[in-house]
Amino acid sequence: MELAAQGQMTCAPNPPVGCIIWRDGKVLGRGFHQRAGAGHAEVNALRSVEGGARNATVFVSLEPCSFVGRTPACARTLIDAGVARVVVAAVDPNPKVAGSGIRLLREAGIAVDVLELDSAKEQIQGFTQRIMRQRPWVRIKTATSLDGSVALANGKSQWVTGSAARADVQYWRARSDAIVTGVGSVIADDPLLTVRDPAFAHALAPLRVVLDSYGRTPSGAQILQGNAPTLLIHQQGYGDSELASGAHIQQLHLPDGPRDVLGVLTELAQQGCNEVLIEAGPAVVGSFFAAGLWDEWIAYVAPKLLGADSRSVADVLVTHLPDAPQARLVQTAQIGDDLRLTLRR
Ligand SMILES: NC(=O)c1ccc[n+]([C@@H]2O[C@H](COP(=O)([O-])OP(=O)(O)OC[C@H]3O[C@@H](n4cnc5c(N)ncnc54)[C@H](OP(=O)(O)O)[C@@H]3O)[C@@H](O)[C@H]2O)c1
Repeated sequence: MELAAQGQMTCAPNPPVGCIIWRDGKVLGRGFHQRAGAGHAEVNALRSVEGGARNATVFVSLEPCSFVGRTPACARTLIDAGVARVVVAAVDPNPKVAGSGIRLLREAGIAVDVLELDSAKEQIQGFTQRIMRQRPWVRIKTATSLDGSVALANGKSQWVTGSAARADVQYWRARSDAIVTGVGSVIADDPLLTVRDPAFAHALAPLRVVLDSYGRTPSGAQILQGNAPTLLIHQQGYGDSELASGAHIQQLHLPDGPRDVLGVLTELAQQGCNEVLIEAGPAVVGSFFAAGLWDEWIAYVAPKLLGADSRSVADVLVTHLPDAPQARLVQTAQIGDDLRLTLRR
């Protein structure tokens, strides 16, 4: 799984996978899946073995594939290599595989152990969600004061949290396939929404998505510039505006507009996004909470108060306590002077 993690920011729309080839108490080779269309983890691991893998044990974080795609079937490659045993951390949820890789190996006389580890399933959760539910893993990021506000009444919000928390956000951006914001944030803050931390220079640039029903994104907005693609999702279009001209800018018309958050997520899944990060203002964040279309919430909390006239983190109308969107706390960490809460549905 540590090997798999090395491909986490580059392998979409495929899942991250790592593989070790082992014999007589020694690691003979290792590999991970770096990029869609390039070698799978098993193939890369086999390539790194000197003198062949006959009778070796293969440890792999995801079931070897059984179909010929852009690369040959990994189960067949392992059979041809003459390995004796395969230890699989998780079964592939993809209906094109879903146990058939394991079956192929067993039919060839190879011993297969299936561990079904929670940690291995967790590592591919974005891929699993896209394949099984046709929508990406949705991670909402917010930065608030201790009283749950993102901005003053006058809209000023830069910066509620400190520089360490802002630097930490770079990791979540880098592992996302898309970053979704609303036109309100684009107009108020003019964010670039790119990955700038050199530690993640290898990451594929996430698609920047602006939910903008009526084409209000200013033509000079930073989100239309920089080294990353941008998708503008609208209902009424941008007409002949100069926004249409940039090669890295796509426009998408949704019949019900971007208020249809399920439609937005379905489109992003079709574009191969496994994980998306919502970095938006209260209106868009509120829409995802209200629709129940979220999986994880990374909440940065600064030890300060913005007061009664400030804007709450999410525009959600709650009249009965039992109806309040509810999260489960899974981790806390101190990041600089702020707190980072990791919450799940
Ligand atoms: N601290 C933080 O974490 C943080 C992060 C981002 C922004 N902010 C602050 O938030 C404030 C802006 O708030 P905001 O609520 O206007 O920003 P927003 O949520 O980013 O954008 C809201 C706008 O997006 C459009 N929209 C399109 N699809 C939508 C959907 N499904 N749900 C909701 N809106 C949708 C709507 O305009 P149309 O009807 O024209 O499409 C709406 O007015 C600023 O003060 C900014 O500084 C804070």
